Amino acid sequence: MENFTFQNPTRIIFGKDTEMQVGMETKQYADRVLLHYGGGSIKKSGLYERVVASLKKAGVDFIELSGVKPNPRLSLIKEGIELCRKHKIRFILAVGGGSVIDSAKAIAVGVPYEGDVWDFYLQKAVIKEALPVGVVLTIPAAGSETSPASVVTNDEGALKRDIGTDLIRPKFAILNPELTFTLPAYQTACGAADIIAHVMERYFTRVKHTDLTDRLCESTLRTVIKYTPLALQNPTDYAARAEIMWAGTVAHNDLLGTGRIGDWGSHMIEHEISGIYDVPHGAGLAVVFPAWMKYVYQEDVRVFARYAVRVWDVEADFEDPEKTALAGIERLKDFFHSIGLPVTLAELKVGTDRLEEMAAKCTQRGPVGNFKKLDKKDVYEIYRLASK
Ligand code: NZQ
Ligand code: ZN
Repeated sequence: MENFTFQNPTRIIFGKDTEMQVGMETKQYADRVLLHYGGGSIKKSGLYERVVASLKKAGVDFIELSGVKPNPRLSLIKEGIELCRKHKIRFILAVGGGSVIDSAKAIAVGVPYEGDVWDFYLQKAVIKEALPVGVVLTIPAAGSETSPASVVTNDEGALKRDIGTDLIRPKFAILNPELTFTLPAYQTACGAADIIAHVMERYFTRVKHTDLTDRLCESTLRTVIKYTPLALQNPTDYAARAEIMWAGTVAHNDLLGTGRIGDWGSHMIEHEISGIYDVPHGAGLAVVFPAWMKYVYQEDVRVFARYAVRVWDVEADFEDPEKTALAGIERLKDFFHSIGLPVTLAELKVGTDRLEEMAAKCTQRGPVGNFKKLDKKDVYEIYRLASK
């Protein structure tokens, strides 16, 4: 096990009707906030009215900025920064999913910074300050409600890049599983794929003696695999939605990564796809991850065989661990198919004409991944493996 420091200061408020506490929670930080949300799902579901009522009851004034798109855009973030400066706003309340939260985090680091906020995403400047952010989560997926990351797409150049700093971990995150009842089936499935990917990025490590976190990862994966089909069958199944929602946070608050060196190659490889083609991140991961697994499993077959047995109940073939490992990868693909996700670029409706360009962009800052270090040629081969 590696040395580690673990601190996750986000206050989690979990359960039915908890969005009614948003005013009181926010009031601890500010009397006036930017209320940031997406394309309208919160208005359709009635959540918007409840959040506004709670803010008003607590005496919190707000300015609104809506219209965050999935794969959030830099242009709206710049609007948000100007709005906060103009109205002297010092707190951002994100009501939505990973895209809204990541957009809020970008505004939070942009307001106190004199230069262009994109500098941070290009690693041209170091983040020293951020406004506090609070969250009401509506989709379990990205894990941004407690993570130190924000992923943004620059409208010019379709470049998707991320930042990471503890300064942007939200102050609080309100998680009411009932808010996810209105999720379309495809978004539920994309969210599940992202959660699974966040666990697997940590699980596939070359670090030895990580038994506790191996088991935590495996049980988180098994939970998502068990409950996602139930939520798809019955979207208002509270028990299923609650298991998935909590798994989504646990998958990415980094408890599962303690003492390990995560891989993260599949995320980097996927970001080039959703950056250019604007597909849901989770769907992109369902395509990339199995291809990555096939490309790297021979580096340590035992880890992949163990995953197959403990996560997918594949019967261990002690004579032929490679067969066991490959069976685990096939089970993952079958699962993604069974919940309506693509597992090839063709199924994702992404062409193969820009694979070279994507591989080059992905490895612009050097090799990606840790389980196996991947250079441009490796990444290109993974895109090719994913293509059919
Ligand atoms: O915009 P609205 O109308 O709200 O609709 C959204 C959006 O179309 C809809 N939706 C959300 N909650 C709903 C709902 N529809 C009905 N009922 C509800 N309760 O779902 C769509 C997708 O929302 P989005 O926020 O894009 O989803 P997700 O949470 O998957 O976020 C994806 C983004 O997060 C980034 C991804 O790259 C992507 O840009 N990630 C962020 C991470 C982080 N900050 O730590 C880590 C992840 O690996 C990921 O990269
Ligand atoms: Zn992800």
